[in-house]
Amino acid sequence: MSAHTRTDYVEDVSPGSGALPPRAWYASSDAVSLPLGGSWRFRLSDTADAQDDSFAAPGYDAGDWAEIQVPGHWVLQGHGSPAYTNHRYPFPVDPPRVPTENPTGDHLRVFGLPAGWPAGGDAVLRFDGVESCARVWLNGTELGEFKGSRLPHEFAVGALLRPSGNVLAVRVHQWSAGSYLEDQDQWWLPGVFRDVTLLHRPAGGVRDFFVHASYDHVSGTGTLRVDSEVAGRVTVPDLGVDVPTGEPVTVPVEPWTAETPRLYDGVLATEGERVPLRIGFRTVELSDGLIKVNGRPVLFKGVNRHEWHPEKGRALDLATMREDVLLMKRHNVNAVRTSHYPPHPAFLDLCDEYGLWVIDECDLETHGFTEQGWRDNPVDDDRWTPALLDRAARMVERDKNHPSVVIWSLGNEAGTGRGLTATAEWIRARDTSRLVHYEGDHTCRDTDVYSRMYASHAEVERIGRRLDGGPLKRRALPFILCEYAHAMGNGPGGLADYQRLFEAHERLQGGFVWEWIDHGIAHPELGYAYGGDFGEELHDGNFVCDGLLFPDRRPSPGLVEYKKVIEPVAVTGDGTAGTVRVTNKYDFADLSALAFSWTYEVEGEPVDSGSLPVPALAPGESAEVKLPAVPAGAPAGEAYWTVRAVLACETAWAPRDHVVAWGQLPVSARRTPYVAATARPAPGDGVISLGPAVFDARTGALRAIGAVPVTDLRLDVWRAPTDNDDGAAWQGDPRYGPLWRRLGLHRMRHRLDAVEAGEDALTVRTRVAPAARELGLSTVYRWTSDGDRLRLTVSTVPEGDWTVPLPRLGIRFGLATADLVRWYGGGPGEAYPDTRTAARIARWQSTVDELQTPYVRPQENGARIDVRWAELGGLRVEGDPAYWFTARRWTTEQLDAAAHRTDLVPGSGSAAGVWVNLDHGQHGIGSQSCGPGPLPRYHLRAEPAEFSFVFSPVSAPRTG
Ligand code: GAL
Repeated sequence: MSAHTRTDYVEDVSPGSGALPPRAWYASSDAVSLPLGGSWRFRLSDTADAQDDSFAAPGYDAGDWAEIQVPGHWVLQGHGSPAYTNHRYPFPVDPPRVPTENPTGDHLRVFGLPAGWPAGGDAVLRFDGVESCARVWLNGTELGEFKGSRLPHEFAVGALLRPSGNVLAVRVHQWSAGSYLEDQDQWWLPGVFRDVTLLHRPAGGVRDFFVHASYDHVSGTGTLRVDSEVAGRVTVPDLGVDVPTGEPVTVPVEPWTAETPRLYDGVLATEGERVPLRIGFRTVELSDGLIKVNGRPVLFKGVNRHEWHPEKGRALDLATMREDVLLMKRHNVNAVRTSHYPPHPAFLDLCDEYGLWVIDECDLETHGFTEQGWRDNPVDDDRWTPALLDRAARMVERDKNHPSVVIWSLGNEAGTGRGLTATAEWIRARDTSRLVHYEGDHTCRDTDVYSRMYASHAEVERIGRRLDGGPLKRRALPFILCEYAHAMGNGPGGLADYQRLFEAHERLQGGFVWEWIDHGIAHPELGYAYGGDFGEELHDGNFVCDGLLFPDRRPSPGLVEYKKVIEPVAVTGDGTAGTVRVTNKYDFADLSALAFSWTYEVEGEPVDSGSLPVPALAPGESAEVKLPAVPAGAPAGEAYWTVRAVLACETAWAPRDHVVAWGQLPVSARRTPYVAATARPAPGDGVISLGPAVFDARTGALRAIGAVPVTDLRLDVWRAPTDNDDGAAWQGDPRYGPLWRRLGLHRMRHRLDAVEAGEDALTVRTRVAPAARELGLSTVYRWTSDGDRLRLTVSTVPEGDWTVPLPRLGIRFGLATADLVRWYGGGPGEAYPDTRTAARIARWQSTVDELQTPYVRPQENGARIDVRWAELGGLRVEGDPAYWFTARRWTTEQLDAAAHRTDLVPGSGSAAGVWVNLDHGQHGIGSQSCGPGPLPRYHLRAEPAEFSFVFSPVSAPRTG
């Protein structure tokens, strides 16, 4: 280390020096403030001590420095590059030492005080988030330095301020001792990534304050007491409250819940400042072994939210935060775990306002120590305890006035140790109004909730039934899955099965899907980049893209499925009974905010619709609601009642008529297609004709149906393995993706055994099998026709030792071209055996391009389920039974080989313009990219199977 600059603090385990004690965060007051975001001068060095401190002195000429946006990460603004690792530290583990290669960003900003900046009083400089360590100067005076990337730090600066030409200098190091405490599974993104603000502090202004607002559900009253470091008065006009700080007052109130986020506007006024308050009355407690709010158990339908924006990384603006909250509310999500650090404080304001239960998690993860059996883990080393306590205090003090925050989380994947116990004790002493969570200690010694991640359905059921045993303390606690249903790529599968368990056992109080959004980085050539795309020597690939939203915040099919699975109203029944059963699954709200309607549909077409009067059922109540008579004159055919629950009025988070829940009740079944085998196979010049079809006489291969050429129609068992098929490398077998590949299912060979033109059928006998294996599928294609339509019946019999399920079972073929697709069956989005809850039976239309689901790493996607018939490219295909339909402009092999979406080029190097798969079966999806694989009932076993398709030429569907 060189002598000319001070860098000792970088490797110091202490949290820092010079900053003010933490206090409550508030966005606004009548005290003036100056946001210091915008363009700053920036200089990057490759070590911590490459440059001396002279840049911090007034008069320093930074004219030749680059410019950078604050808030922001320099690696996303053309200086250096991002790097992704899951849990491995990207530097040698030798705490608290960090590498010599320590990218260091010097930031400079010159500012004047705005007109009207009060002459008297003090001022503080607030940093809401800097990764990972900063040293700060104002006008040449060093203020101090700090660590704790996603936590606020304030410095008193009043005496240093001048009316103009103030020089703010911030030196930021990518690596510090603090990095050992910030080993979350995400991109390493240094920079001043949250707001920097100068706050005037008037004499007699508010300092720290704690709003205690509880609710007594028996009396329907709330008790408010605002403790304030500086005494003052608290007024809440709507409640007629006007009391001194520190004095409790009890009044009748409407409580705050995530479903009914009633906030009362108030003011905390001290002699020098008026701070607006948004008060939500609610009481969180552990009672009868359950998490209760306002006296009632809650069921968390949650997500884990990292802060993410594909261009800005973790530097989120308010609009993006609001978009997250609105998307959550619109998808029936009621809870967020702020994995794995306190979010931008404004996000919690939004949670208060729109209504979301929050587990606020401390900025603490030491997961990389698992690589050495947790030896030297900082959370079990007293030297680090002050840093842990500092982090906990900065979170709790900042966020304690949010009604939405119901649980504090000590951190994530930090092993166990004395430091964590000390942290839990500190939190409990400071705030008795919330519960404490931590997943990493299954004995639950420091926690109020038994929490796990990725437990299988079977284990969750055992826990729900209280058959899991374990330490005495744990047995008495409620259970949550703080992470489950790993939403990486296609999936997660099995959500509905978890939800059934959560709803069946009171000890199970729900879960939080991992995770909210893919952390793909917008990239000019790759679409979205993931680990390894920036040349990192150590990385974890696309494990960073495992969200319910794509990087651009478009909902993935996983989110659509989750919305359906967690919908707060159940609509069930048998459509022939004349009634529908409606159940209110909210914890607090009755159904008065919803309007119900029915539609009677035949063959997927609405015949009639109307509104359905449903009583304002209380939480947990059900009613049998009478349906109208079947509409007179309804055509014959497969019929359904579709019942929807929509918002009766506009809310803060969605417009009127937004669909909250729905159900379909079957009335009459579908008639399966029948084709009389009246046409005879007619041999011609090297071909065989049968009805509208022409076959190759030698190979039996279908060449055309009417005027539509068909390429390479054959049995297909391969799908481009999903991230969940592949499973995480650390998972034991069976991981089906690798197993399938080992067996050779991606390179099946088709041996022709016979082509038989019989009386009323053309029969083609084959055996489909991979090289080097004895197993195979004896497969017979039997073609018949009534002259107009062509029926194919595929019979397949597994031979050999098939212990492994098949990826898919069906046929595939190529068409020269196809654009628009119409179908009757499940839609509008993709569905697989264990991700099918949101598929509604109706008529749908899409282009081939829109059928593709844009997973960041290409993989099997886009199948539509329960398709009765589909039309594309001049063909109509009816299924007997209904089938899975997939169409894409590339082959499965090309999809399998692609690493990014930009690798997929329509029609390149393939014999057809569009490839169609019609599947009799698909293997389930599961969640094995981090959790359990698909449940056995979703396995596609290799068994004798027979299925048919009826083809007929049609004119190509047109838009509209
Ligand atoms: C968990 C961890 C998360 C994330 C997830 C996998 O173990 O807490 O941060 O890594 O696995 O995506």
